[in-house]
Amino acid sequence: MSELEAAPGAPEFAYRQGELSAEAVPLARIAEAVGTPFYCYSSAAIERRYRSFAAAFADRRAGICYAVKANSNQAVIRLLARLGAGADVVSEGELRRALAAGVPPDRIVFSGIGKTEAEMRSALAAGIRQINVESEPELSLLSAVASAMGRTAEIAIRVNPDVDARTHAKIATGKKENKFGIDLAHAPGAFRRAAQLPGLAPVGIALHIGSQLTELVPFELAYGRAVELLRALAADGIALRRLDLGGGLGIRYHNERPPAIEDYAAMVKRVTDGLAVELEFEPGRWLVGNAGVLVARVLYVKDGASRRFLIQDAAMNDLIRPSLYDAWHEIVPVRAPDDRAERRPIDVVGPVCETGDSFAAQRPLPQVAPGELLAVMSAGAYGAAMSSSYNSRLMVPEVLVRGDRFAIIRPRPSYEELLSQDRMPDWLAEG
Ligand code: LLP
Repeated sequence: MSELEAAPGAPEFAYRQGELSAEAVPLARIAEAVGTPFYCYSSAAIERRYRSFAAAFADRRAGICYAVKANSNQAVIRLLARLGAGADVVSEGELRRALAAGVPPDRIVFSGIGKTEAEMRSALAAGIRQINVESEPELSLLSAVASAMGRTAEIAIRVNPDVDARTHAKIATGKKENKFGIDLAHAPGAFRRAAQLPGLAPVGIALHIGSQLTELVPFELAYGRAVELLRALAADGIALRRLDLGGGLGIRYHNERPPAIEDYAAMVKRVTDGLAVELEFEPGRWLVGNAGVLVARVLYVKDGASRRFLIQDAAMNDLIRPSLYDAWHEIVPVRAPDDRAERRPIDVVGPVCETGDSFAAQRPLPQVAPGELLAVMSAGAYGAAMSSSYNSRLMVPEVLVRGDRFAIIRPRPSYEELLSQDRMPDWLAEG
């Protein structure tokens, strides 16, 4: 196997007759039909990941609520919903997407530290499964909103276990200095209060300590603390029936060695052994991250004073992870290069007017010429979902492949659509 064939990413993206393909569809064929840049996802890859997650917990009462923020295209949500997934949502927009995509309300969990009153009302009106509350003032507001609607909100309280997730600081959420959850010392008081407040039924503990975790130890520490709390609450007369263990399991982008799902599951079962609770998980990246690529076209190869730059037509507005988190994404030519091709370090950058608009620095790549296609691997999670039209670039389109078929699941907007979003105030309307 050549180095490129072994590149991180789902095996559904492989070279076939010298062309990088998504399942049976050459990416170059999609590029012809859709133009570049575009995201492409493999249905088979997403299905395979979902099934292996579900299989790892088949002997437990466990629900998988897909974290919609990772990839919120309704086609992706529906694909997962048809396999049995629920949804973890963090805004009214995500709630509406999940419902529109066909996720049954009783499989939807609403997370997030800043729910508005309107969002609470929508969640309660839809009759979702659970609202994960993250603070005392949120408890009070939700109690008032639910009571006024004559409803009882089933809630989990998200706790902050003060555990270092050992991931990028911007996506670590489980330390006491992070804004998330209620710290363990105050959690029992919050549960007692929730049990007394009208309109609230505390049913579980939730936690999520961060994203792209590549070790089991932080999970195990955090889950152990949640289980301790669960037992202490039970002894105190507050019996809970659910444990929401969040998402966060990492994937391979480069040379990481994230735990196998079976090892993660074995650890969870060990820590929760003997508890009569239903488990909930909120994986996002693990389900869709490796299942997508961003395809771009080479515009120029430019020799700077001290570096060579590859300028492609995808930019930080299309995939912000390298700029925002210094994330490493494998980049490969769509047409298989000769195995003996020389690799020279090059900076892969986009057209946006910021030095931070860079996908890779001094990356050894085989020589590519303007017009050729590149694939940025493992871009299925937090790629399109975090894209924007910064620099008035058109929002990047998305394509879903299934076997030998593909469909545009979000078209590239037209310039008319882009421009028509602004409104002139009447005092500027003339002239
Ligand atoms: N549950 C909650 C409450 C979350 O906040 C998150 C992610 C998840 C589940 C899903 O986590 P996952 O399984 O995908 O790791 N934009 C960043 C990642 C931000 C994650 C935010 N929360 C990135 O591109 O790395």
